[in-house]
This record gives sequence, C-alpha cells and structure tokens, in this order.
Amino acid sequence: MVVRTFDSNPAPGCINFGIGQPSGDLTPPELFRELSERFYAATTAADFNYGDTRGDPQFIASLADFVERSYGQRPDPSELFLTAGNSQALEFVCERFTKPGDTVFVDEPCYFLAFQILADRGLDIVSIPLDANGMRIDVVEDLLKTRKPALLYTIPSFNNPTGVTLSRERRERLADLSREHGFVVAADEVYQLLSYEGEVPPAMATLTGRGNVISMGSFSKILAPALRVGWIQADAKLVSRMLESGWVNSGGAVNQLGSLLVRQAIDTGALERHIAFLRDAYRSRLDTMQAALEEHFSGIATWTKPRGGYFVWITLNADIETAPLKPRALEAGVGFQPGSAFSGPGGFRNSLRLSFAHYDESRIREGVARLGRVLREAMATAGAAQ
Ligand SMILES: Cc1ncc(COP(=O)(O)O)c(C=O)c1O
Repeated sequence: MVVRTFDSNPAPGCINFGIGQPSGDLTPPELFRELSERFYAATTAADFNYGDTRGDPQFIASLADFVERSYGQRPDPSELFLTAGNSQALEFVCERFTKPGDTVFVDEPCYFLAFQILADRGLDIVSIPLDANGMRIDVVEDLLKTRKPALLYTIPSFNNPTGVTLSRERRERLADLSREHGFVVAADEVYQLLSYEGEVPPAMATLTGRGNVISMGSFSKILAPALRVGWIQADAKLVSRMLESGWVNSGGAVNQLGSLLVRQAIDTGALERHIAFLRDAYRSRLDTMQAALEEHFSGIATWTKPRGGYFVWITLNADIETAPLKPRALEAGVGFQPGSAFSGPGGFRNSLRLSFAHYDESRIREGVARLGRVLREAMATAGAAQ
C-alpha cells in the first residue's frame, strides 16, 4: 500500500526534504505584526460579522488588483471567490461539480495529498502522463473518445512533484477541450508566482473566458500557510454555482478575518515585496541544491533543474524502490517523499521528491550529502545482492 503522509515537524537535527512548506525565517513575524496593527486600525465592528458569501467586498477588490498586477488581466468581482486555500478549494470544486463515481483526470505524477481529496468524493482517478511540457494533452484527447470526465485536476506551473510547466499551447487546448467535452478544469496555480528563471506561460486564470477553467490561487506559498486564505477565479456562471452551496449560505465568507489581513498585505505592497524576497531566497536555495546534487548524486541518479516552485524530482539510475529507504534515511537524519506516493497506478517507484523551500543553504548541502550516502549504500547493497 502506498503511504501518503503530510510531513510536518521532523525530529530535532533531521533535515526533512519531504516537507513542502516555507521555513520559519521566510515568514517573518514582524511582517504579520505590522499587517495586524494596520488591520486593527482600519477595522470596524462589521468586519467581525460573517462576511459576504463570496468574500468581503473590500478583500475581493484588493484581490482583483493583485490578480491584475500578477496575471496581467483584471477579473470582475463576480469571477472571484474567497477560499481557505487550495486544498479546501479543490474539495469545494469536487463538491459542486462532481458526484461519486465520476471520472477525474489528474497529472501522473500528481500532488500526492490531492489523491485523498479526490478519493473522499468517490471519484474514479485516471492518471495522464506528463512530459517536459506538462500534462500530455494528446493523451487527454485520446481518452476523451471513450471517457467522459467531470473534472481534470492539474498543477500547470512548476508541478508538484516534477517542477514541469504546461506550455501555453497546451493550456489553450485544454481550455477548449473543457468547453467541447463539458468537463471542469481545476487548475492548481499555487506556484504560478514563484518563478526563478525565464518566462512562465500565462496563468490558467487568464483562460477562464475560453473554457470551464477554475483557477485556484493560494496565499500559503507566497505569504504564509497558517493564514488558510486562497481564492478561486472562474467564469461568473461557475462561481454562482459555488454561491449556491448550503454551507456557504450558512457560514458566509470562509475566512473573513484572514482575508482582511491579506488585504492589508496587498494594499500596502507588502505582499509583492514579500514575493520578490521569496523568489530571491528560493532561487538561491535551488542553486545550492543543484550544486549539492551534482556533487553527491552524479552517477546514481538523474534530475532536471526546475525553473520555479518548491521541488526537485529525482530518478535513481537503478531499479530500486525509494519508499522502503525512507525510514533508513530518517535514521540518518534526512527525509524525502518517495516517488510512488505521487503515482495513481503505482509507478515512479525509483523516484523521489526533494523540497528546497524548507531549509537554508547550509542545511541543504548537509542534507543532500546525507541522502547521497544513504542512496549509494542502498544501491551498493542491491548491486551486491544481484
Ligand atoms: C500543488 C499543491 N496544491 C495545494 C497545496 C496546499 O495548498 P493550500 O495550503 O493552499 O491548501 C500544496 C501544498 O504543498 C501544493 O503543493
């Protein structure tokens, strides 16, 4: 059985590259102190009420500004909806646009923790292979001759786990297919703004007028995961189906206070300054990881340098399963996510995912050296056993 765990707090001294979260030093408390002070200075009693179902109008207006500056197109407020981050957004999209037994197409490999969200909704998961330009849309087209998915879930930019990015042509084709075949594309754009090199194709959010595209954005990776604030951008007709939800009508805005804190970050320019800071920090961490991999993994594995996001995807040169090596690696003080956790049909057994986001440069160098030793030892043992 494939084990898919959310790795949070590692044992002291352990460098767990399995953790896909920013490190503490990248979410400075001073920033949040300042935003909170501004929030309390600006707030009124009404802000402590339930809040509009789509999200507070002041937040939605600020969000429209941020989306316009980030993606180059201004959404209408009727096309926006406040979420509690992309995990909740995906669950909500499934709730509104699928029923148990429906088919969902996903990336292969796919963000490992999405599998349970989709399985919780009783969906039949069909994996679509990726290549260097993201999801193979030719395979999607072939499958559409025999299958009728309700949903397609993909991470178009800097995919988790492989780091690959869906090309512009494929994005457009996907939007067209969603319209022609009547399925919804849930585009998880959590890494769209974390690019370190070269151009990123336009966000899927810019294609919401072209097909049934639902773009899911999150402040988890560009501000702080603890906020639990994100957003959906989609055609107003799709958003109005979300507004018909019973729990939305009962509870109002999903995170009124959190969204008003984020609004301060947008309106003061602090968010965009923070994103620029994160891009510099992650670019340096990625370069460090690349150099360390070249030093310690040459000859035992292959990988491609991602141009953004959080992750490096590595494949061993030998047919050795990485999942059983995880406990051994943790004993040696280093962690990773095994490749099989990201596969629907149980592939990628000799691959692994490393995050370069959670540790500074010196820890990255040390962790990669530790992991290199564990992997070389495992490969030598397997070679000796043959
Ligand atoms: C692809 C992807 N989607 C969603 C999430 C979770 O996002 P959120 O914190 O917005 O729920 C992550 C976090 O690792 C992720 O990598």
